[in-house]
Amino acid sequence: MRILIVGSGGREHAIAWKVAQSSKAEKIYCAPGNAGISEFAECVDIKAMEFEKLVSFAKEKKIDLTIVGMDDPLVGGIVDEFEKAGLRVFGPRKNAAILEGSKAFSKDLMKKYNIPTAAYENFDTPEEAIKYLETARYPIVLKADGLALGKGVLICNTKAEATEGVKTLMLDKQFGDAGNRIVIEEFMTGREVSVLSFVDGDTIRIMTSAQDHKRAKDGDKGLNTGGMGTFSPSPFYTEEVDEFCRKYIYQPTVDAMKAEGRPFKGIIFFGLMLTEKGPKVLEYNARFGDPEAQVVLPRMKNDIIDVFEACIDGKLNDIELEFEDNAAVCVVLASDGYPEHYDKGFEITGLEEFKDKDGYYVFHAGTKYDNGKIVTNGGRVLGVVAKGEDLKAARKNAYEAAKHISFANKYMRNDIGKAIDEA
Ligand code: AMP
Ligand code: GLY
Repeated sequence: MRILIVGSGGREHAIAWKVAQSSKAEKIYCAPGNAGISEFAECVDIKAMEFEKLVSFAKEKKIDLTIVGMDDPLVGGIVDEFEKAGLRVFGPRKNAAILEGSKAFSKDLMKKYNIPTAAYENFDTPEEAIKYLETARYPIVLKADGLALGKGVLICNTKAEATEGVKTLMLDKQFGDAGNRIVIEEFMTGREVSVLSFVDGDTIRIMTSAQDHKRAKDGDKGLNTGGMGTFSPSPFYTEEVDEFCRKYIYQPTVDAMKAEGRPFKGIIFFGLMLTEKGPKVLEYNARFGDPEAQVVLPRMKNDIIDVFEACIDGKLNDIELEFEDNAAVCVVLASDGYPEHYDKGFEITGLEEFKDKDGYYVFHAGTKYDNGKIVTNGGRVLGVVAKGEDLKAARKNAYEAAKHISFANKYMRNDIGKAIDEA
């Protein structure tokens, strides 16, 4: 089969790598891709939001299956455009990707179908939101309704902070139109778990669990980022938690989307918080997590093309997912200054050492070729992934590997997986 992958991050590198493991993959293209992906896929200079160009490319190259990794094109309706052109594509249509595209929509859905989540209210004007803050309890959480690169969530300890927050989101429009509407919700505490799943409209198949580290600095300090590292599985995701989520969260979400006339085909990523009162949904995403995919996919035994096809054809019932009985840790190597200002264009060395080494993977995010050298080209540069027989071994291996890769202004968290010691 001829496959096209849309996106350019570490997640897309992990997807492309997994697709390349399949004997069914004859030729892989990636738009726009990165230096790592170009080792086994042909990278095409088309951006993920250039739907028309992507459709023309897919027709011209007789692509059999397109896989969309990123949220923006999914929420923007790329799948509808491909389907209109008669092309096979994996991902939710626009009317289903709204599960990630609008937090107000997803909160209303959960409320209507009794799916456990934090108590909330939606607001369309800053005046109403600020009035609500008068009688609210603190801390409280403000969320921009739309996509904001994972940064549109503000946790506010006081009324004054929250009032500033409402202004930032709704008046200053820090995240543009994403802040035209906001959700104000109850602050919850507990451990966070990421659970990814494949969905075919009716049936859902759950992947192994993972945990992300969203803050930039050690000890969960600093700004929110796309994710500074992950481990899989999460030792806090017990059988009891799994049973609860299957009954009250996973299938009910799929059924709710179907009942709303928005059948969901693709990946649903459940961002969960394990609270004292049981697991609750923090957020939904309509795609693989980044860097969750980097630790989940290397542990997956299935041929991923079979699973993608089963989702498209509504035949996921015929598939059982299988994962290795081991663990994986991903340490993100970033450019110092991320998620704010950082420099790029620095040569990366040490990549050869872990190439093709069993149990090690270096997934590229912000990299590119420059005069034959691989240089930094983004905030998150590489995801260094290692497997181990358990989480501690995987963590040791990942940090050992991370030491061997160098570039100017390299920055990483040193406590990815620290939570493992508390399990
Ligand atoms: P989200 O993009 O909605 O997952 O939010 C980003 C991060 O903000 C989450 O991973 C949590 O760490 C935090 N967060 C979001 N909602 C809440 C909440 N209701 N209570 C506490 N923390 C939250
Ligand atoms: N790592 C969190 C996300 O992909 O949204």
